Amino acid sequence: MTELRFPENFLWGAATAAYQIEGAAHDDGRGPSIWDTFSRTPGKVYQGHTGDVACDHYHRYAEDVALMAELGLAAYRFSVAWPRVQPDGTGPVNPRGLDFYDRLVDALLARGIDPIVTLYHWDLPQSLGDRGGWTNRDTAEHFATYATAVHGRLGDRVDVWTTLNEPWCSAYLGYGNGLHAPGEQDAGAAFTAVHHLLLGHGLAARALRAAGARTVGITLNPADVRPADESSAADAAAVRLVDGLHNRIFLDPLLAGGYPTDVLEHVARIVEPTFLRDGDEKLIAAPIDLLGVNYYQPTYVAGRPDGAGGGGAYPGTDGAVEFLPPTGPLTDMGWMVEPAGLTRLLERIATDYPGVPLLITENGAAYPDKPGTEPPDGPGPVVDNDRIAYLDGHLRAAHEAISRGVDLRGYLVWSFLDNFEWAEGYRRRFGIVHVDYLTQRRTPKSSARWYQEVISRNGL
Ligand code: FCB
Repeated sequence: MTELRFPENFLWGAATAAYQIEGAAHDDGRGPSIWDTFSRTPGKVYQGHTGDVACDHYHRYAEDVALMAELGLAAYRFSVAWPRVQPDGTGPVNPRGLDFYDRLVDALLARGIDPIVTLYHWDLPQSLGDRGGWTNRDTAEHFATYATAVHGRLGDRVDVWTTLNEPWCSAYLGYGNGLHAPGEQDAGAAFTAVHHLLLGHGLAARALRAAGARTVGITLNPADVRPADESSAADAAAVRLVDGLHNRIFLDPLLAGGYPTDVLEHVARIVEPTFLRDGDEKLIAAPIDLLGVNYYQPTYVAGRPDGAGGGGAYPGTDGAVEFLPPTGPLTDMGWMVEPAGLTRLLERIATDYPGVPLLITENGAAYPDKPGTEPPDGPGPVVDNDRIAYLDGHLRAAHEAISRGVDLRGYLVWSFLDNFEWAEGYRRRFGIVHVDYLTQRRTPKSSARWYQEVISRNGL
């Protein structure tokens, strides 16, 4: 294969999220989050797994940062747990919770690794959950207060701030189909949550800027929505609908000044949009410096005018849209492997929403990795050639987007460590570093060594 070089200063890194790796659920005054509650609700998470211990990163961060440095990572994206900073979601800040991130940031900087902070990766304080979570407008205001507190402690050393991770998941999986915390199933609540999440972003972004933050952005999981049949008008209509509910409902208010009319009409058929108040869209549309893009697989849809479609995670699409089962060799999540979808997606965003630099904030794959056994030295290497192939394909796709003119600034692999994969618990391994959950032993997989080489050559 051809050798590819990435632009100078292309940012290579890895990503994680607080609830998925930290553990230490009761340490230093951390309050409960909606994921603590949800994971304890029977039947919600695979085998009742919880994030109580996870990768114990809270206590092992120094070892983890040393490993990041060994692999040559230039950036590390992590999230701050709101329930550590404000155990009740509002009110007094818990300094011991912030101390952890203080230590983490110092450890990263000491190794020359840029911290990229995500302020919200789904672990809403339970007491805010009790008051309606993201269906309550006050949560957006509280989020900005919390963001200000985190910036107050870390802002002298952290340059890159992103507000939310994948609000689509928070809203549609949390309040729509109930697969994620808090597990509600209410189409109207899902759309209400979309708006309050975006409002929370807008309020937090404004507060961060006022406090002097240099780079402010948000991470979405925009979808590459494709028709089952390129020549079918019904499929084209299904693409338009799903694209509206997945992409334009977030991208338009963030980057084009307001919600698209067709999407608002769809929402209004399900819930009276009284949550949308004067001035909200202006706030949400304030310019951002960076858009984080998480990509895993494409979405293929077919229109079903006969109403026989299965529906999906999109409120109000039941019957009208069929979501095609993924094809080809699948990952351990049952997800499709289609790198070209990443090129299409990046190009589409760059074309329809020009001017905002993009960063791939997540991309990666789960495979059932097991360490080989090579006594007496303990676990042997973890050979994960399928992950290397996935990452190689997607890096080539990202490079292709750059060569077509997309302003792509970097790539963060999901994930640095195997971790708590939400409703799937620990059974899905996304890490380039293997974690033995019994001993907490970290073993870099072959993909980690391969990635180390990619970073050192700045290319493939
Ligand atoms: C994304 C999440 C991340 C991880 C990956 C596999 O949707 O942001 O936490 O679970 O999927």
